[in-house]
Amino acid sequence: MAMNLDKVVPFGRSLDEYRHMFTLTENDLEREILGVGDGPAGFNAEMRRLGNHVVSVDPLYAFNGDDIERQFNAVVDDVIDQVKATPDDWVWEYHRSPEHLRENRVKVLMNFLSDYENGKLEGRYVVGELPKLGIEDDQFDLALCSHFLFLYSDHYSYDFHLASICEMLRVAREVRIFPLLTLMLEQSPYLEPLIADLESRGHLAFVQNVDYELQRGGDKMLRICKAA
Ligand SMILES: C[S@@+](CC[C@H](N)C(=O)[O-])C[C@H]1O[C@@H](n2cnc3c(N)ncnc32)[C@H](O)[C@@H]1O
Repeated sequence: MAMNLDKVVPFGRSLDEYRHMFTLTENDLEREILGVGDGPAGFNAEMRRLGNHVVSVDPLYAFNGDDIERQFNAVVDDVIDQVKATPDDWVWEYHRSPEHLRENRVKVLMNFLSDYENGKLEGRYVVGELPKLGIEDDQFDLALCSHFLFLYSDHYSYDFHLASICEMLRVAREVRIFPLLTLMLEQSPYLEPLIADLESRGHLAFVQNVDYELQRGGDKMLRICKAA
């Protein structure tokens, strides 16, 4: 078994990881981006420092920074121990080892926390959750969702996934989701029926390889362009 988590863990990734996971180009970075389920990622904070604008939406933002740090500290050792117990399930390239992964996750959390209060005041960290984001139609060029949909396929139904993707397409012209594996390192059983369902609604949906792989075999994202 790759990973046994009874709930979604508040682990965050950096801007550089977002760039790789979603093959973000310089042009993409200048688009209006919505980060769905960004949690304690450093993406928004680092984008802000570059002069770019991201809105992140996550139920986690109902908590203050100290609470989020406590939630992270409560799970980090267990997650890293599970990773250490299954060394062959992970690709040690971008992150060199479980210790290096932990170091990076802590660094990202600190980056996020240093920006969080200010970002909330600026409206860049918004409380909300799939499948109803509470955002007006067509506000964004691109919606990104990392390590929530597909990954937690055992926790959330097919209907939840379909409604969530339709919701992201309501507010953004394009949606990218990474990874497409479950916690058990299997392709999500929802992927192929979802692509068929989205295409039957006139959207263009396709899988694209990316140059980021931590879960072994997890180097693909789903890209969906809204029907014109
Ligand atoms: C594993 S973290 C990933 C954070 C970030 N996307 C990244 O990759 O660095 C998953 C995030 O999904 C958020 N989440 C949980 N339920 C959600 C929902 N219904 N809608 C949107 N996000 C949700 C959690 O609060 C958490 O921050």
